Amino acid sequence: MDSIPTQAPAIAAPPGFFAERVLDVHHWTDRLFSFTCTRDPTFRFEAGQFAMIGLVVDGKPLVRAYSMVSPPWAEQLEFLSIKVQHGPLTSRLQHIVPGDTVLIGRKATGTLLPGNLAPGGVLWCFATGTGLAPFMSLVRDPGSYDRFERIVLVHTVRQVAELAYRTLIEQDLPRDELLGELAAAQLTYLPAVTREPFPRQARITTLIETGALTAELGLPPLSPDRDRAMLCGSEAMNADVRALLEARGFTEGSNSEPGTYVVEKAFVTK
Ligand code: A2P
Repeated sequence: MDSIPTQAPAIAAPPGFFAERVLDVHHWTDRLFSFTCTRDPTFRFEAGQFAMIGLVVDGKPLVRAYSMVSPPWAEQLEFLSIKVQHGPLTSRLQHIVPGDTVLIGRKATGTLLPGNLAPGGVLWCFATGTGLAPFMSLVRDPGSYDRFERIVLVHTVRQVAELAYRTLIEQDLPRDELLGELAAAQLTYLPAVTREPFPRQARITTLIETGALTAELGLPPLSPDRDRAMLCGSEAMNADVRALLEARGFTEGSNSEPGTYVVEKAFVTK
């Protein structure tokens, strides 16, 4: 088989987009896949941000918001996606193969930025499903470890097989030449599963409400005095966790006024 060229494709991109070449596709389950593609050297983003990603369909861009899984320093881009059989984009995107062309919006944006949070000790990253994506970028950005003493990444999914990047986080990251020392000392990964037997078998909301998370780590209950939170999941999960945090005195942060938590939807549902 011919090797896949790693340079971007030669086709013209629609205005506002880069046309990039798919390099690798990984199918985690029949509901979840990820892919890597080439990155235009002028495409800039911060860990935690998203861009509009998609395909040319009937001569027009068909795109949705996707958080970058890859860290800002990486040469390639990586994205994590659900597969929905009749979803306008993901029904097509799930069939991409190396060599295909994908569209990447030129402008990255988003609220899951350490700069939107007041300085604090522990950063809690609460993700469900593909909401893990922006945190995969954050935990591989050395700047995150300067900003927070400790980062706790809680990822909840229905089934064990949906714990995407588990091996990377648990095994590869602590051994990484550049990030290993930081991650080993400051990153804690707490995977949870709701619909199969698993050591941590509960929704994020339950883990927060019962205090199980902080207790497991020997930490005091969640408090805006020292804890910071980032949420990324379904609308229902975001709303429920937001309510739990606000009941504990957390306030939402923004670019103009840093707070003690920030939230973003895990966008693509179709
Ligand atoms: P559950 O299995 O109890 O529905 P999905 O794949 O539907 O996006 O769900 C991903 C994870 O998010 C699942 O573990 C699911 O739990 C959990 N979840 C769904 N809704 C909420 C919610 N409102 N609060 C907390 N967790 C939720």
